[in-house]
Amino acid sequence: FGARRNSRGRDLSDAADLAQIEAARRPHAEAVYHAAPLTAFELPEGGAAEPVLAPTFARSSAEVAGRLRTATATEVASAFDAAQTWEAPAEQRAAVLNRAADLFEAHEGQIFALLAREAGKTLPDALAELREAVDFLRYYAKGARALTAPARGIFACISPWNFPLAIFTGQIAAALAAGNAVLAKPAGQTPLIAHLAVTLLQEAGVPRAALQVLPGDGAVVGAALTADPRVAGVAFTGSTATALGIRKSLARHAPQAVLIAETGGLNAMIVDSTALPEQAVRDIIASAFQSAGQRCSALRCLYLQEDIAPHVLEMLKGAMAELTLGDPWALSTDIGPLIDEAAFRSISDYVAAARQAGRVLFEGSAPATGWHLAPVAIRVSSIAEMTREIFGPVLHVVTFRARDLPAVVDQINATGYGLTFGLHSRIDDRVQTLVERVKAGNIYVNRNQIGAVVGSQPFGGEGLSGTGPKAGGPMYLQRFVQDAAGAPGT
Ligand code: NAD
Ligand code: ALA
Repeated sequence: FGARRNSRGRDLSDAADLAQIEAARRPHAEAVYHAAPLTAFELPEGGAAEPVLAPTFARSSAEVAGRLRTATATEVASAFDAAQTWEAPAEQRAAVLNRAADLFEAHEGQIFALLAREAGKTLPDALAELREAVDFLRYYAKGARALTAPARGIFACISPWNFPLAIFTGQIAAALAAGNAVLAKPAGQTPLIAHLAVTLLQEAGVPRAALQVLPGDGAVVGAALTADPRVAGVAFTGSTATALGIRKSLARHAPQAVLIAETGGLNAMIVDSTALPEQAVRDIIASAFQSAGQRCSALRCLYLQEDIAPHVLEMLKGAMAELTLGDPWALSTDIGPLIDEAAFRSISDYVAAARQAGRVLFEGSAPATGWHLAPVAIRVSSIAEMTREIFGPVLHVVTFRARDLPAVVDQINATGYGLTFGLHSRIDDRVQTLVERVKAGNIYVNRNQIGAVVGSQPFGGEGLSGTGPKAGGPMYLQRFVQDAAGAPGT
């Protein structure tokens, strides 16, 4: 699926790199991580009540990877008490974020190990994720120097498990670059990666009162963060349903707070009869199945023009059969496991129902152990049949006639989502028209539709897919400072 080279351009199969990764893998035995929330208070004075040590799991084996103390709603309130905006000059904040980027790179072995172990990331995915995190740190560090307005105050940064380093770090880096205090809540599935990232940020010089991490359940920690009247802003990435709940909570408890929400999508790709089949198949495979389809940007519904559909589907079937599922550690692995049993069961049930209805076109194969789900292609008559985002390696396929193209665009827009859209066509006028008509934040022509690059492909959706401004783009930091008039915006 991609370059297997580390951030210094060396091949990951290089013996020295493998040794570093292997060495980093071992210390992550359960005993190493008894991480407490990194609040200004660390553990409560006098050692409070019995800490609850919640387990976090290794994805490919389901064994316990570590245990950590989750934060309570009371500790969230204490973290608000302790939070202090970062008053250092922008130049100094930028220098600290750049130093953090260097530290992330210096710890690449440990980071790859945790991403593979706790998030089930293949090594190429882990590498891409580290690069994105480092890019966010450096990009927002640069942006900090251009800011003139003051910070908003205390930002809650709430992130998902599917980019447990890059998105977690990106939100925090932006809020800190603008001088805000950050209370960060990582996803429940990936707290150890978050813990390591925050440790490195603090080692780089971010003051503890400006950055506290509060691991725990969304319903406890996330809800407490977004129901506190002291929150000045929320940077949220996750499902649309959770974002809507946060919007309501803020309206009730903290109406002054801004909400930046980056959410889910029902992403389509159109492949017309002028497409190059080999290229289209390669890009469909990457868009739908890389990261086991666990990307918000992933292709969910492929529209194939009927003239070329039999040929492209035959090639797609062959390409899917070639995909290797397995241990994220193995360099030969293309697709790692799903994030957890709940995801595996829910998506397996969805595929079973499609199989029962005779709609499965073809499926790859998966190892019998672990939460591995074989990539699958399912026939549907329209994207309208998809009532929710299926967050896994499930590709829906529709065939269409050329004259129905306007109706296809209407179907895609009618989902209400608008995150990514892919198009394979060699007709310039058609490309121009579709790019203008399809409502999506990121549109990719004659390439895959995942892996936006910080700074050159700002990423974010519209409609049910997000509020903007786009992450990794020039407007993003503006949302983290007070509006020009000096009054916090909404
Ligand atoms: P999720 O909405 O279940 O959880 C996201 C975060 O919100 C987690 O930290 C969770 O603990 C927290 N949370 C849950 N309930 C909460 C509540 N009531 N109040 C406050 N916080 C709460 O999403 P997920 O399963 O972790 O991630 C997958 C989703 O994220 C998919 O829908 C995917 O499309 C989306 N996503 C979007 C982007 C993007 O940039 N648009 C990027 C990655 C993932
Ligand atoms: N930014 C990530 C991508 O583009 C979600 O795939």
